[in-house]
Amino acid sequence: MFGEIRGYNRQANKIIIEFERRNASIEIVTPSIINFFASIASERRVSKAVENLRVDPGAVSVDRVDGKIVVKTEKLKIAVSDEFFVDIYDAAGNLLCADYRGSAEPFVRRGSGEGLDVAAEEGHKLELEKNRLKVRVLKKMDEELFFYGLGDKTGHLNKKGYHYKMWNTDNPDPHVESFEAMYKSIPFFITLKKKQAFGLFFDNTFESVFDLGKENSNYYSFGAVDGNLNYYFIYGPAVKEVVNGYTYLTGTTPLPQLWTLGYQQCRWSYTPEERLHEIAAAFREKDIPCDVLYLDIDYMDGYRVFTWDKKKFPDPKKTLKELKDQGYKVVTIIDPGVKKDRGYPIYDQGLKNRYFATEKDGVPYVNRVWPGDSLYPDFPNGEVRKWWAANQKIMTDTGVAGIWNDMNEPASFNGPLPDDVAFNNDGVPADHREMHNVYGHYMSKATYEGIKQATGKRPFVITRACYAGTQKYSTVWTGDNQSLWEHLRMSLPMLMNLGLSGVTFCGTDVGGFGFDCTAELLSRWVQVGAFTPLFRNHSSIFTRDQEPWAFDKETEAINRKYIKLRYKLLPYLYDIMHEEESNGLPVIRLLLLHYQNDDKTYEINDEFLCGENILVAPIVEQGDKARMVYLPEGDAWIDYWTKQTFEGGQYTIKEAPLDICPIYIKAGSIVPLYPVQNYVGENPVKQLTLDIYLPEKGKIGSYVHYQDDGESFDYRKGAYNLYAFDVQADEPAKRIRIKGEKKHAGYGKGYTSFKFILNNVEPSAIIAGETSVSFEVSGNRTVFSVQEPGDIIVRL
Ligand code: GLC
Repeated sequence: MFGEIRGYNRQANKIIIEFERRNASIEIVTPSIINFFASIASERRVSKAVENLRVDPGAVSVDRVDGKIVVKTEKLKIAVSDEFFVDIYDAAGNLLCADYRGSAEPFVRRGSGEGLDVAAEEGHKLELEKNRLKVRVLKKMDEELFFYGLGDKTGHLNKKGYHYKMWNTDNPDPHVESFEAMYKSIPFFITLKKKQAFGLFFDNTFESVFDLGKENSNYYSFGAVDGNLNYYFIYGPAVKEVVNGYTYLTGTTPLPQLWTLGYQQCRWSYTPEERLHEIAAAFREKDIPCDVLYLDIDYMDGYRVFTWDKKKFPDPKKTLKELKDQGYKVVTIIDPGVKKDRGYPIYDQGLKNRYFATEKDGVPYVNRVWPGDSLYPDFPNGEVRKWWAANQKIMTDTGVAGIWNDMNEPASFNGPLPDDVAFNNDGVPADHREMHNVYGHYMSKATYEGIKQATGKRPFVITRACYAGTQKYSTVWTGDNQSLWEHLRMSLPMLMNLGLSGVTFCGTDVGGFGFDCTAELLSRWVQVGAFTPLFRNHSSIFTRDQEPWAFDKETEAINRKYIKLRYKLLPYLYDIMHEEESNGLPVIRLLLLHYQNDDKTYEINDEFLCGENILVAPIVEQGDKARMVYLPEGDAWIDYWTKQTFEGGQYTIKEAPLDICPIYIKAGSIVPLYPVQNYVGENPVKQLTLDIYLPEKGKIGSYVHYQDDGESFDYRKGAYNLYAFDVQADEPAKRIRIKGEKKHAGYGKGYTSFKFILNNVEPSAIIAGETSVSFEVSGNRTVFSVQEPGDIIVRL
């Protein structure tokens, strides 16, 4: 395809390599992030995922050695040979990633045409792999490699040996491991070999495929049906650094409003308004905290977006105000499909201004979704996004607090959108093949910007379809799962891989969307949900009720217990979201993110870290009342329930009756807690609690806590407080030192007192500054309060 190298020419951080048949380029973004590019389909190069690329290449050298072009950065050496074969080494000369020199040799699917016909007749879906790829890169496989990422794909954490497709897909069948495509297209994966990890991000919006050693165990590959060769190599060596690099390119999730981390209740059928009020009242009556209630498609007038069914909601503004007074934020669904209906303003405006995607002859394209015949706004067009953004005000002025974007793969009931449906794409015509995977991305962007303009607050958007970078605008859920144990189990690797793919703020429909939930399944699912950034119970119309009280008193009590635990942990989750805004690290983390040296963590599918300090090992099998837990090596772990300490690097058996989710806190953790409230903002939080788990001998436990107004963008102008805490057990002197300091004081409504919980400590005296402090011991906890963080000595 490229031929022999003819020469090269360097332009600042970019090296253009001239080959016999076409040029290619290497761009040094940072010493660890390298872009490889060759125009195959078009010279134009606009990324949908990477906005405002910050280039910071450091020192770069380029040489011609033995017929190769050798580029060196401060972290990597890249050797380019004829045919644009690329080999990448670390600074010490270890080979990290090599292009595969052979040609693709997929395994053979045996069977005759006759057999195929018979199998198809019985209903087997057999698809013969056609070689439709115009762009493809093959990399040499190594036996010891592990693969992660790729967004919301089903199956297990490690993707080695599997094949996936990036083509946003709404398939209502129960999600299973054999689904190659899901709702989201995040063409990014991480490869790990012992201490060395790197990521490959293939920035191509066309249908793309990722084969991680399935078709042939000698190579792994990625490619697309069209578009350019355009990928980034993102070096670690730590997986953490790869995630950091990927989000450096595609963006991090901005800090959300605090209430969005509260409990959210949804169901397709919370209409008419009396039903919504009933749900709202039940939470308060039953003493189960809840911040958010959702309205699904049935609140609209004939499924016309930006309208209300006036029979069900005669005065929506009044209804939403009444709910707001009880602390509820209402989120409404807005789908992309605009009903074809003269006299309906959104349709009329869209038609008049040519805001809809068209057939190739320019006639607006029509397919069917909920409202019947509908048109698809041309979201890749900036003008259309402005219009859509302005429409958000219709909802926010009524009192809507956030918008839920669904069906934006885009879904269609009347067969798939034809390839040649035309989009304006900011002045550059593009067809559906190129725009499909970014349709939901641009819809979320428009929604985000509209809510921001209308309210000035941090927007809350939730979307089903995504492309790389959607995390800048929206939180996501994993679509229509079902009330199946299999789906609870699978949600863990899905959420962990989503997190590695830049999507920090994610969740599943707790309890399952389709099919009928059981008491036991809901009890176990809420235990996972309590640690999931988006904590939303959602179910489909006509399924059995699955609100926290929908079963029996025991299930209700378990829901209450874990939802309350969630409210205690709000400052901890908010701190993770705040840090994530600069480092891109997700809330739900696979164990190896912090324990890459411990290869026993590489394929743990059923445990996760919530931030760095809390390990959750939920029960995901019906009937299980105990499970094996692996505690990673390098830290000691404290059982949250019994306070028993365990050395890391071991498997232990934890008994877990229905109301117990195995939770372990890393030794040395300082976990910030809030008092439980019915909803965020019910009462001002004046006291911060710090739940302290002593570090092991010789170690220091540290933690930085962040506080702001929880809703505005003022924090970006410095209106926040930062509190830093250290704890150290000083063995010979038999004392514990706790140091607290306000590192940044920019938010006026700071805490007026600090409560400390010391686990597994029995003090003889506690002295803060010069003053002795009274304390209470109950069981294995010692509790005391001080007004200022300061220096505290705990004598044993
Ligand atoms: C889709 C969504 C689901 C929603 C339903 C009705 O199936 O994924 O969450 O409830 O549409 O709007």
